[in-house]
Amino acid sequence: MKNLFSLKELTVLDIHRIIDEAIAFKNGKKFTDLKGKKIANLFFENSTRTHYSFIVAEQNLGIIDTNFNAAASSVNKGESLYDTVRTFESLGYDGLVIRHPQNNYFNQLEDISIPIMNGGDGTGNHPTQSLLDLMTIKEEFGKFDGLKVAIVGDIRHSRVAHTNIDMMRRLNMEVCISGPKEFDDGSAEHKELNDILSDMDVIMLLRVQYERHGYEIQIPKTEYLKQYGMTKDRVKQMKDTAIIMHPAPFNRKTEIDDDVVECEKSRIFKQMTNGVFVRMAVLKRAFEV
Ligand code: CP
Repeated sequence: MKNLFSLKELTVLDIHRIIDEAIAFKNGKKFTDLKGKKIANLFFENSTRTHYSFIVAEQNLGIIDTNFNAAASSVNKGESLYDTVRTFESLGYDGLVIRHPQNNYFNQLEDISIPIMNGGDGTGNHPTQSLLDLMTIKEEFGKFDGLKVAIVGDIRHSRVAHTNIDMMRRLNMEVCISGPKEFDDGSAEHKELNDILSDMDVIMLLRVQYERHGYEIQIPKTEYLKQYGMTKDRVKQMKDTAIIMHPAPFNRKTEIDDDVVECEKSRIFKQMTNGVFVRMAVLKRAFEV
């Protein structure tokens, strides 16, 4: 069995294998070995894409899925994450998908005997999001080496940015960050968006994560869009072959304008589709010996 806590655990070869497996699933590969396995999805933080694409992936593989309702559970009686997870293990589940607001929550779960797939930990890691982003880039360009990526927006609070910056560098991609200086956490070189638009292969936008700030950001939404957001005028300055990505959910008219969400360069909904196939590949890997 194999956990997936962070992409740091995986070699570059592992990453390529998962993406190739996901592409094979997208092309119709059948796999029935996991039929009848029982997986519980434990989401302690809100989610639409990660949670429901894991459900679709599980159902595509014939897995029996259970969806934990944290609000109606004994978490509200003070039960710890460790005790909740040990309970699911004791009940006979074969694997778990967990999203939790605490960074590196999985460090306390290393002795659990069933595979755990991380659906996002605080501002730390989002391995399956990064894998689906990479799959989308590979489908588009057929390679990673030498591609130029700008990750734009609320870097400081983004587990997607932190996971992607690290992984993209390992894949020899050139990564810079852009957006308000207050969101610059030094993860990569900061550049002004208007200066780099025509040079990037991928512009990856990030949601302004208001709920994680604990303070009011000073920039009004319309001003944010004007200074740092992807507008139609900025799209026109991009290379013909370049694409726009966003992990979603997105704040329309803040980091992305309405008419950019589904423009010809946008791969946002394709990323969501690819999430199902990446998660099928991750589930298959979890039970490999
Ligand atoms: N991209 C992403 O993780 O979306 P959800 O929070 O809806 O799962």
